[in-house]
Amino acid sequence: MKKILQYFVILLFSFSTVAQNEIKLSNLQCEMLVNPLGIDVLQPRLSWQIITDKSEVEQTTYQILVASSAEKLASNNADLWDSGKVESNASVNVIYAGKKLNGKDEAYWKVKISTNRGETQWSEIAYWSMGILTYADWKSTRWIGYNQLFPGDSVSQFSKLSARYIRKQIDLNKNVKKAKVYIMGMGLYELYINGEKIGNYVLAPVPTDYTKNVKYNVFDVTSQLKQGENVLGTILGNGRFFAMRQEYKPYKIKSFGFPKMALQLDIEYEDGTSETIKTDETWKFTPNGPIRSNNEYDGEVYDARKEITNWNNVGFDDENWLNLTWVEEPGGFPEAQMTPNMKVMGEVKPISIAATKTGSYILDMGQNMVGWLQLKVKGNSGDKVTMKFAESLKEDGSLYIANLRDARVTDEYILKGEGEEIWEPKFIYHGFRFVEVSGYNYKPAITDFVGKVVYDDMETTGSFECSNPTMNQIFKNAYWGIRGNYKGMPIDCPQRNERQPWLGDRTTGAYGESFIFDNQTLYAKWLDDIKFSQTLDGGIPDVAPAFWRYYGDGVTWQGAYIKVADMLYNQFADENVIKNHYPYMKKWMAYMEANYLKNDLMDKDKYGDWCVPPESLEIIRSQDPTRLTDGEVLSSAFYYHLLQIMKKFAHIINATENDISHYDDLSERIKMAFNKKYLNTSTFSYANNTVTANVLPLAFGMVPEELKQKVFQNMVHEVEVTKQGHVSTGVVGIQFLMRTLTENGRGDLAYKLASNKTYPSWGYMVENGATTIWELWNGNTADPEMNSQNHVMLLGDLLVWYYENMAGIKSNPDYPGFKQIIMKPDFKAGLNYVNASYKSIHGLIKSHWKQNKSKLSWNITIPVNTSALVYLPTANASKVKINKDRLDKSSENYKTEEDRLVLELKSGTYSININ
Ligand code: BGC
Repeated sequence: MKKILQYFVILLFSFSTVAQNEIKLSNLQCEMLVNPLGIDVLQPRLSWQIITDKSEVEQTTYQILVASSAEKLASNNADLWDSGKVESNASVNVIYAGKKLNGKDEAYWKVKISTNRGETQWSEIAYWSMGILTYADWKSTRWIGYNQLFPGDSVSQFSKLSARYIRKQIDLNKNVKKAKVYIMGMGLYELYINGEKIGNYVLAPVPTDYTKNVKYNVFDVTSQLKQGENVLGTILGNGRFFAMRQEYKPYKIKSFGFPKMALQLDIEYEDGTSETIKTDETWKFTPNGPIRSNNEYDGEVYDARKEITNWNNVGFDDENWLNLTWVEEPGGFPEAQMTPNMKVMGEVKPISIAATKTGSYILDMGQNMVGWLQLKVKGNSGDKVTMKFAESLKEDGSLYIANLRDARVTDEYILKGEGEEIWEPKFIYHGFRFVEVSGYNYKPAITDFVGKVVYDDMETTGSFECSNPTMNQIFKNAYWGIRGNYKGMPIDCPQRNERQPWLGDRTTGAYGESFIFDNQTLYAKWLDDIKFSQTLDGGIPDVAPAFWRYYGDGVTWQGAYIKVADMLYNQFADENVIKNHYPYMKKWMAYMEANYLKNDLMDKDKYGDWCVPPESLEIIRSQDPTRLTDGEVLSSAFYYHLLQIMKKFAHIINATENDISHYDDLSERIKMAFNKKYLNTSTFSYANNTVTANVLPLAFGMVPEELKQKVFQNMVHEVEVTKQGHVSTGVVGIQFLMRTLTENGRGDLAYKLASNKTYPSWGYMVENGATTIWELWNGNTADPEMNSQNHVMLLGDLLVWYYENMAGIKSNPDYPGFKQIIMKPDFKAGLNYVNASYKSIHGLIKSHWKQNKSKLSWNITIPVNTSALVYLPTANASKVKINKDRLDKSSENYKTEEDRLVLELKSGTYSININ
């Protein structure tokens, strides 16, 4: 962990010290720098960024050196790999091609490049080490646990199990040179050495289907160990592992058993010897610590009177503790965790505290947030403070909890009575804006409470602001909703008794999110979750990891597997995900074809165009056939779309001609059957003429060319006239609506949808006090049974549209990872200005434009070693100035496309003015 910190310091330092006109390298990354201590990819990918004040800089060659020690690398003794000078402009995802690496090997590397504007020195030295690569290398490390309930524990609909406090004293009789610990702690763990918590994570590790794969975390703990006695301590919480509603619906919900752990501590001594400490039956534990219960849905109960002073440090007498026993392995293969753990990523201070008639207090955090509440309290030993969480209030001012179903969402803190006590939970989280706190015999101060915002430790990479305040608030709501629903996997919602990684919620959502968060490793992990949940015959579930065993065999939900992989390729140039998952995707496509293709149409759908605005404001699911789109229409069109993407993947990985021709033939057949059955050539509409039924074939290129305009006009009529400029789609149609309108010339109508404040719209949510995105368009009035106030699926392609169509920041599909940027804002849609930025894997992209009737100014930044196609809203070059030079006199190359000039610009910052 420390190493990672150091790393970031180096990185920031080199950013701020770049001298004018020098070309330097920074941000050296191995597999995205998640945890360079534990890489279990045999051929890691290396990336770097070029920083310089010079413009129009392109890399022409690189040379990478990798050595087994820093000393060797310093003297250019690249005993692992010398790439030689390679003529290439690749600066991201360069695959290590040196000597075969073994488990726990260390690798130090640096890179030097030449560019069209000069050479660099060798970069700073960066580092990674390999994780434990084979099952055999976990050898005699034992999984330990204790398969038994203790007093106070219960297995029921509301299961309870106290956290387990584990300790092991070790005696080291030499000076430690280096030490690394590898830990698997299920469901959740915290690790301590000599009383100090290791790492700044919470709720670790990321959840998986533990019967399929189990994530281990790695930490450098050199500075925590000392010669003499040391104590390793862990606390195990339940997370998704132990009976969380499993007893309630055992047929549906997976259970993994009692918490358990396995740990290896590798120590190298200064005298050259080494030792490995491993979990075994000599480790001791107590179930009698202060965390009496921890259940993700129901909350945490903490009895401070039961705190055990010094339990994780030397000098504690553990004589009365029990010995852990050898327990069965969870079953899953151990893997290095390549996506970050969760962390407290921010704090929220309540904006008000109000007394209720019953003597409790209601806190308003001012924001629907995900995490927990930290409190400061005084009282007598045994006093109990209770916190209950909700997203909104009822009219009488009390908590609205009807939409949480049976989640109890209640934390309890029992005081030890020793002056001021500060507490926050460890193994649960809540989704909430309001908290009712009770049990006080005095009026607590508002400053006694802090909301902790908890989600995956990932960087915010995008910003967006524009001239429309409603759109800005929607953006903010999306930002809060997305980050709250990252929990080591993308979940549907953070508050009710669900919190499941539903595939269909992120099919396109993941793409929009990628403009705001560095979500690459999270989604790469999720694709693995999906892969691991695939059945032998090829089916994939609706929820992955399949904590809920739903194998509904739809296309629109399951299609997320392929769409998210495409997003990772497009946004992050991640070819590996295509290579790794292609066989499984192909298998699923074939499975669907074999089982559900009838008369060249896909006859299987489970959820329909989920959550369309219904006929009455109180209901969840519409029964009105004019609002619903036939399942065969949805799944056939979507399957056609997926075939196109599979074809693209097949080209990327050089799959056989057979694959490609199969995708071609089948998609042709589906298109024909689809148009034959559903296209009405006199009304130019599909099926029952819902917007969704029309937008899918338009977006996927299924409409015969000569009818495209007419079908589009018909759909526009539906949106503009029939629905009076409002959305009428559910989760499926909304993924394509904004871009399809804009790319066919009606950006103004898309803008109307985005800026609307009346029902149904995103702005309607804002008008009604939403600070996140709702599950339902009618989320303020609908039945509470399925009505989360923090779901992100209705965002559809809205965020993609913000960035690609309004800001003009889009990766050219032919040059993934923003190697070439398409900057083509729709200036006519209705906005007066946009100011957006996106930190791509190649560097920071900026687009800031402002216009009035006579003038447009546009400032753009294009990262080093990339280029941009910049579309100007005029065909008249003499009106354009770039960095003060008139375009017609400058040496820039440009071409004209329809009524626009298109410039190809290399890296740098440009100020464009059009009069
Ligand atoms: C979830 C959704 C999910 C849907 C599928 C709901 O309960 O919250 O987000 O996609 O079920 O039916």
